[in-house]
Amino acid sequence: MELVERAAELTELRKFFDDCAAGVGGAVLISGPVAVGKTRLMEEFCRSVDTTRTLVLAATAAETEHDIPLGLIRQLLGNAMASTQPADSRGALFRCAAQVREYAAAWDDKDPRARKAAIEHLCADLLAPARDRTVVICLDDLHLADSVSVELVLSLQRRSRMCRTMLLLGVCTTDPTYLSEIQVEFARSPRSHTLCLSGLTLPGVSAALRLSGLPEARALSFLRASGGNPLLLDALLTDAVRIGRDRDTADIPKAGNAFRKSMSACLYRLDDDTRTVLRAWAVLGRLRSRRLLRKLLGPDRDAAFVERAMAALAAVGILDHTGDFRIPETARIAVDTTTRTDRADLHLRVAVLLHEEGLGASVIAEHVLAAGDVAETWISPVLIKAAGEALAKGDADRALTCAERAHQIAAGRAAITALVALVRLKWLTSPSSASSHLRPLQRAMYRGRLDLSDAFALVAQLVWERRYPEAANVARWLDEHVDRTDAAELLHLRTMHTWLRLIGPMAADPGHDLLVGLPQPEHASADDSRMRAVSALVLPFGRNPRTRCARPPSTFWRVSSAATTRRWTARCPRCWP
Ligand SMILES: Nc1ncnc2c1ncn2[C@@H]1O[C@H](COP(=O)(O)OP(=O)(O)OP(=O)(O)O)[C@@H](O)[C@H]1O
Ligand SMILES: [Mg+2]
Repeated sequence: MELVERAAELTELRKFFDDCAAGVGGAVLISGPVAVGKTRLMEEFCRSVDTTRTLVLAATAAETEHDIPLGLIRQLLGNAMASTQPADSRGALFRCAAQVREYAAAWDDKDPRARKAAIEHLCADLLAPARDRTVVICLDDLHLADSVSVELVLSLQRRSRMCRTMLLLGVCTTDPTYLSEIQVEFARSPRSHTLCLSGLTLPGVSAALRLSGLPEARALSFLRASGGNPLLLDALLTDAVRIGRDRDTADIPKAGNAFRKSMSACLYRLDDDTRTVLRAWAVLGRLRSRRLLRKLLGPDRDAAFVERAMAALAAVGILDHTGDFRIPETARIAVDTTTRTDRADLHLRVAVLLHEEGLGASVIAEHVLAAGDVAETWISPVLIKAAGEALAKGDADRALTCAERAHQIAAGRAAITALVALVRLKWLTSPSSASSHLRPLQRAMYRGRLDLSDAFALVAQLVWERRYPEAANVARWLDEHVDRTDAAELLHLRTMHTWLRLIGPMAADPGHDLLVGLPQPEHASADDSRMRAVSALVLPFGRNPRTRCARPPSTFWRVSSAATTRRWTARCPRCWP
């Protein structure tokens, strides 16, 4: 993107440079939030300088060199050696580079006098070329520099007034209220000037749209979406051009590949603390609140820490002033651009927090599933509940995923509960897939760990699977264990017997008659028997409050595919409409 809205700053730099060339040197600090255009402004300025008459030295500090004494200055001189410089400056630069290497190799932080002397010495060496020509020293990302280099830079800044040197420094201010040592020094030095950059404004965004061939009428929506961040604006423009100006008529600019790439780069440029807060904010999703955010970040991070990071995120243009993501897609990018382990850990912490807060099972399950391999005891019941909620909403796949995960991680008694839930769900969605679980269910039943209602359901499931001998055994077991003083249970038992008696002849399997050992039905009317047969089928699903979420007609139909019931309902229209 062509440079927009920085003409005033360039003029100011140019004027400052002219004064330096006239013998009154000084330093300019370009500060501003991430990706606001500090580097771009420095580059544009340096490009405008006549390098045949001016010596331009440049280096960029990096986090990886933060612990290397004089790392930034070594880089500055190394870059100068590698580039074409006027011949008369090369000797001085070469000597200076050798000195820096020597000092750096024997650097001793514990000797303040030696340290001071070395800084003085190097300072004088670096300013030496300014005797013959104007020198511009550009040091970008100074907030990442090693402490010795910073000390040297501040020393240069104090002396530059006396010679033809312009010091151009770039510093990222994540926190607008935070004043680094460098900024404090600048505030009190007469020939030190600070240029605070902020995001682009409406005229700048309009100009950018014009240059991209997009209608300027959309400038406000692009400004809102990008927060004036030139990196993000450029990406949104690229996406808009790619989508095509006719098709992209949405009020909010669409985030495409370019936006995703630039936003990832933007997140990478943030400091660790701000990124941590952003990810926590993003992962909270629609439950976002400052209170939950602080709880999620833990007691080590106080309210001021959180507010500082939120202000930084607003300054970068990722969040708006209410804390909402300017482009909703950003929340996903923020979470996706972390490692798998960190992401899983974050989701687990959110799940624990929401569980402690007593929030709904579905929302907790979302995070548990995203957390992957976690097996804490409270999780399985939550997942089972979430499966029920998902089924009630008609989301069978989600329900199954929750139940399957609950079954994988549950242990002891909870494992039976999870298994029952899983079988019920499979029975509703794809009955044959429940087949492998029916034996463990029977084992649980014989050990007295299965509710009677689930044992009744088991009979139907086994019959549907044509596992008649097993169905008969379960039915016998029920016969022995049902509490005959409980009217509801007794009715359930009787309808089961009726049903088995009715389907028995059709399911007849030599040697394994379902009816063997079962009592005779206590009613006589054929119609009544048919009615009971149908209700027996529906009962295991309809009667149990935990399975009520099932859709009875489809349940009925699936069961009926065992053929027997279908025949009965066909014959008796009163049983099923
Ligand atoms: N005024 C502008 N007009 C057009 N494009 C710009 C402008 N300012 C910056 N850009 C573009 O925005 C992107 C980010 O700018 P830049 O890297 O200079 O930001 P920065 O402030 O140095 O970021 P950081 O804090 O990460 O160092 C670059 O692609 C740059 O070309
Ligand atoms: Mg930069």
